[in-house]
Amino acid sequence: MISKKVEKELNKQINAEFYSAYLYLSMAAWCQTKNLKGFANWMHVQYQEETAHALKFHDYVIERGGTVIFDAIAAPKISWKNIIEIFSETLKHENHVTALINNLMNVAISEKDYAASNFLQWFVNEQVEEEANVTGVLEQLKMIDGKGSALLMLDREMQQRVFVPLTAAN
Ligand code: FEO
Repeated sequence: MISKKVEKELNKQINAEFYSAYLYLSMAAWCQTKNLKGFANWMHVQYQEETAHALKFHDYVIERGGTVIFDAIAAPKISWKNIIEIFSETLKHENHVTALINNLMNVAISEKDYAASNFLQWFVNEQVEEEANVTGVLEQLKMIDGKGSALLMLDREMQQRVFVPLTAAN
């Protein structure tokens, strides 16, 4: 059984992960509209990953005998100035998610819920990867000033990203 406090925080995180999914789907739609199909693909994979994160929390709450609460998902922004702004905001958003995960970890530790803290360690590692990936793309975009034929080349590279479903191993 999980404590009410941990259950409440995990439920907040389910909502935050679904919001992330919604935000990245909105960014994918923007990229598609601007004919940046590779970036649209990258964001669509990001949307799938966030949905998988939400479901990982969802399954964990149920596994521990808690109740999943489905709260309203806030509407994401739908328009951006350019692709650099999209990735700057993505990095800012991932930094925010890292802070949420760290806070959740603090709650689990203060509640002496070692199983939850062990579960959360996967997300701590995941955030390191997420921030590094987004920073990498943002740096490349800045290098090419987010435009011209170099942008089209990068767009082609972004097309390569594929969603890898979460398993017990990853
Ligand atoms: Fe679910 Fe992008 O962290």
